[in-house]
Amino acid sequence: MGGSCFRLALVTHMYVAPCNQVDDSVCVVRQQMLVSLLDTFDTDFRLVASTDLDDWRYLATDELVVINDAQVEPEVSAICESILQSQEPVVTPSTIGDGWLVAIPLPNDVGGMQVAVASIEGQDPEMLRRLAKLWCSSRQYQHQVDKYAQECEQLTEILSEGLEELTFLRSMVAFLDMSDHTHDLTSLAESTFPLLNDNMHADCLALLLTPEGLGPLRAVPALVWGPKPVDGHLLSRVVELFGQSYCDQPVVKNHIHRLPEASELNGVRDFILTPIKSGSTHYGWMLAANRQLPEGFDPSSDWELSHYEFGTSEASLLCTTVSILATHASNCDLFQEKEQMLVNVVRSLVSALDAKDQYTCGHSERVALYAKVLAERVGYDEEACERIYMTGLLHDVGKIGVSDAVLKKPGRLTDEEFAEIKRHPDEGWSILQDLAQLKYVLPGVLHHHEEVDGSGYPDGLSGDKIPLDGRILAIVDAWDAMTSDRPYRNGMPTQKALSILEEGAGSQWDSQLVQAFLEVIDRIELIRNTYRLHERPIRKMGCGI
Ligand SMILES: [Fe+2]
Ligand SMILES: [Fe+2]
Repeated sequence: MGGSCFRLALVTHMYVAPCNQVDDSVCVVRQQMLVSLLDTFDTDFRLVASTDLDDWRYLATDELVVINDAQVEPEVSAICESILQSQEPVVTPSTIGDGWLVAIPLPNDVGGMQVAVASIEGQDPEMLRRLAKLWCSSRQYQHQVDKYAQECEQLTEILSEGLEELTFLRSMVAFLDMSDHTHDLTSLAESTFPLLNDNMHADCLALLLTPEGLGPLRAVPALVWGPKPVDGHLLSRVVELFGQSYCDQPVVKNHIHRLPEASELNGVRDFILTPIKSGSTHYGWMLAANRQLPEGFDPSSDWELSHYEFGTSEASLLCTTVSILATHASNCDLFQEKEQMLVNVVRSLVSALDAKDQYTCGHSERVALYAKVLAERVGYDEEACERIYMTGLLHDVGKIGVSDAVLKKPGRLTDEEFAEIKRHPDEGWSILQDLAQLKYVLPGVLHHHEEVDGSGYPDGLSGDKIPLDGRILAIVDAWDAMTSDRPYRNGMPTQKALSILEEGAGSQWDSQLVQAFLEVIDRIELIRNTYRLHERPIRKMGCGI
C-alpha cells in the first residue's frame, strides 16, 4: 500500500496525541497508527478524541499539547458518535473539504476512544471503504499478535524462573537420596547453599541452630556462607529481633534502615528469615541476607528499585528448601531413635541371658567389645564395626533355650548335655531370624563355633567358608572363656591363653585372624582389666514411668 495515488497536499494541521497526559508507550502506539494510515492511504490523518466535556476534539502533535479550541466540525462529531456505536469505519462525502471524509475507529490501546479522520479527494468511495476495513482488520490482527507476543514473553520469564527453581530442588532431592542419616543439617546446608544462591542472589546465606533448652530465639550461627558474609553476631541478633514475628510465613524485610531496629543491625540491608522446624521440634533458622546489587549500583538513587529486593519467589524458595531440610532432620532423628531402641532391646535380651547364668555375666558384652577391636584391626569400616559389636552382644542368645542344669553344671558335660549346649547357635538363629533389622547378625551368631579344619558346629564349615564374623567371634569368644574367672576355677594367665590360641591357629582358628588378635592384645587386655558390669537397677515402688 502507500501508493502515490492517495497522496494529497499536506494537511495543514496534523494532530496526534496529548502525550503529556498519557504514557510514552501509548504515545508511541498513536504515532505508529498515524504512520500506518499514511502508508496505507497516502494521506495524513488527524486524531479525534472524545473528551470529558462530552464533545469531540482534535488532538495536537505540536509541542505535545491538546488544542483546546480544536473542537471538531459538527459533521465529524456526528460520524464519531455513530462510530462509537458501530466500531466500523465510515466513508462519506465531505463537507469540510473536497472528496470523501474517511473516519476510522482506532483500537483501545491508544488510550480511550479515538477516531482517525482525513479528507481524500479523487478516489472511488467503495475502494476507500474496503481499504479502511482492511486496515482495521490488520490492526486487530496486529493487536492480537502483539498481545500474544507479550504474554509469551511473560510466560517464558515465569517458566525460566520455575525451571531454575525446579533444577535446584531436583538437585537437592537427588543429594538427599544419596545422603544418609550421618549428614547433619550443617553439612546439608554446606552442600545446598551454592545451588540455592543461584536462585536467591543473596550476599549471605546462613544456618543458625538453637541449642536445646535456650528457646528458639537464641540461635547460634552454624554456617555463614556467601560472597559477602555478614557477621554471625548480627545474624543471631536478627533472629532475636524478628524471629518472634514469625507465624507460618517467612519474615521478609527490605530496606531495614527505615526500621527502629536498624541501628543494631549495621551491615544488614534486607533479609528473609525462616525457621527450620518439623512438628513441634525447632532445629534453628535459615537466613538469606542482603540481596545482591549490581556493580556500580547507587543505593541512594535507586533504593526503591524492587528488582533488588527479596520478594515472594525468594521467600517461597527458601521455605521449600527449609521444609526439605527439616524433614530430613526429622527423619534422621527418627532413624537414630529407632537404632537406639534396637540397641536397647538387644541389651535387654542379653541382660535376660546374664540373669540366667550370673557366672558368665558380662561375657556377651566383653566378646562384643573384643570383636569390635579385632574387626577394626582387619579393616572393617565404622558401620561394620558397630554391626559386629551387636553380633557379639547376641552371639550366645540361643543359650536362653538351654536348661539351667546344663548351663550351670560345673563339671564335665555328658554327650547328651554337650549336644544340648551345641544347639545354642541354632536356637539363637531361630530367635533372631524374624527380625529384619538384625539379619546381619545371623552369620556370626550361627557360625561362631565353627572351626577352620571343619570340626566345629553347627554346620562343620571349614576355612573361608566360615563367615568372617563367625571366625572373628570364635577367637574372641574363646579368649573370654579362657581368661574369665568361674566359680569353680580362676581365669587362665594371659600367656597360657595366648599359647593355646597360637597352637590352635590354622586348625581351630583362622591363623591370619589369630595373628591380628596378637597385634591388638594390649587393647584387648585393657578392656578386660577395666571392664565393669552394668549394674541392674533396683526397683522401689511402681514401674518408674
Ligand atoms: Fe557360644
Ligand atoms: Fe560365647
